[in-house]
Amino acid sequence: MGEIFLYIFFFFLALSSYIYFRRDKRDPSKKTKLKLPPGSMGWPFIGETLQLYSQDPNVFFVSKQKRYGEIFKTHILGCPCVMLASPEAARFVLVTQAHLFKPTYPKSKERLIGPSALFFHQGDYHLRLRKLVQGSLSLDSIRNLVAHIEAAAASALDSWDGGRVINTFHEMKKFSFEVGILAIFGQLKEHYIQELKKNYYILDKGYNSFPTNIPGTPYGKAVQARKRLNQILSEIIREKREKKLLEKDLLGCLLNSQGEKGQVLTEDQIADNIIGVLFAAQDTTASVMTWIVKYLHDNPKLLEAVKAEQKAVRKINEESNQSLSWSQTRKMPITYKVVLESLRMASIISFTFREAVADVEYKGYLIPKGWKVMPLFRNIHHNPEFFTDPQKFDPSRFEVSPKPNTFMPFGSGVHACPGNELAKLEMLVLVHHLVSKFRWEVVGSQNGIQYGPFPVPLQGLPARFWKESTS
Ligand code: HEM
Repeated sequence: MGEIFLYIFFFFLALSSYIYFRRDKRDPSKKTKLKLPPGSMGWPFIGETLQLYSQDPNVFFVSKQKRYGEIFKTHILGCPCVMLASPEAARFVLVTQAHLFKPTYPKSKERLIGPSALFFHQGDYHLRLRKLVQGSLSLDSIRNLVAHIEAAAASALDSWDGGRVINTFHEMKKFSFEVGILAIFGQLKEHYIQELKKNYYILDKGYNSFPTNIPGTPYGKAVQARKRLNQILSEIIREKREKKLLEKDLLGCLLNSQGEKGQVLTEDQIADNIIGVLFAAQDTTASVMTWIVKYLHDNPKLLEAVKAEQKAVRKINEESNQSLSWSQTRKMPITYKVVLESLRMASIISFTFREAVADVEYKGYLIPKGWKVMPLFRNIHHNPEFFTDPQKFDPSRFEVSPKPNTFMPFGSGVHACPGNELAKLEMLVLVHHLVSKFRWEVVGSQNGIQYGPFPVPLQGLPARFWKESTS
């Protein structure tokens, strides 16, 4: 009998310790005097993932911000998160206290891009790679790409001519891929471009699919394509080294790089960063360019103003038989504001993810170690406090600079986008050719958004394009 009581006593002791420790783990604020931010954690395990994905994710973020304010907690995709919707909070995480928040991506995505790509890292390795990538994408480097980007834009647009319906986003992806290749490799043999394109296409398709190694699934095929991409890159590197073709493009910079003690980068590190940059460059720029086509189409008066600006540039160039110059791309004030407003309005990177590496205090709240932290760029870009009438597409708002830290389409701090100038150049060159030579019509009248994962107009914005006669 005494034994039974002993068993019951130990059973309850174990149960109560289990409950106590689980509660303590679930609610780390119990360990400190600080309280967790307001918000709800939803259902056990799934948290609020269904609420987030059963609607436009931005509706979820906005309704949470209305209810709880600039900082709130939630639980999505199996992780407890703190979401931050103010410029100060975004600056805290991305700039001033960036060392307390590390980048975090699902392992399945890291595997496809390559674990040595700079955006998965912090500290010395990240800094070294970032300097190299930034150098190859600096204003001094990209000014030499204008003529090549122009040729790519002109040939892309010519291929749309004739009025057949095209998927604008898919076509923009082809163009941004070519620009990515130019920035990474400079001039590259056509057969290498075709091989890279073929395999990158498979990788891209698998990236947003369910991660499983089962052969034949999109993810399984993407893993195989990633291996082939390594082989192709290895061949390109060998050829460049043999012919001593080490230029100022990204590959040249990566191959030339030597650490403090003379260490060179391994081929895997080079390959991961090349695929990483290609990945960062393609869908992002293509989505924004698709939105630009839509916004210009929906705002005929604005389109006329952009046309007038670009046709004036074209006239000068035709009369003097020259192509678009770097300095001309820096003097397109109306078009440039359209680019900025499109970046704000579409906010294609609505938020980013970090993970707290220690317990962090923000404005009296605890952000527990291990929790995901998400600065919500889109909420900031669409807050009427910073952008009057935020749902209105109004490029003239950029006649005055936005308040500090309220406009972050390219992020902020140590991981801010090193490709931002290239992306803007690419968009300006495309718009120059689009509006000065073409007219277009959007097909269908639905005004929806589709996530893949970046927001793009429904079905990639089906549209017809015609080259206008030059008379
Ligand atoms: C409109 C187009 C683009 C947008 C909106 C965009 C946006 C961003 C944002 C928001 C980040 C920071 C993400 C974070 O902090 O977690 C980022 C990082 C990055 N972007 Fe872009 N990007 C664009 C185009 C490009 C292009 C064209 C390239 C390269 C040619 C590029 C290369 C990168 C790289 C390498 C990083 C990682 C930087 C690091 O971790 O240090 N991006 N981009």
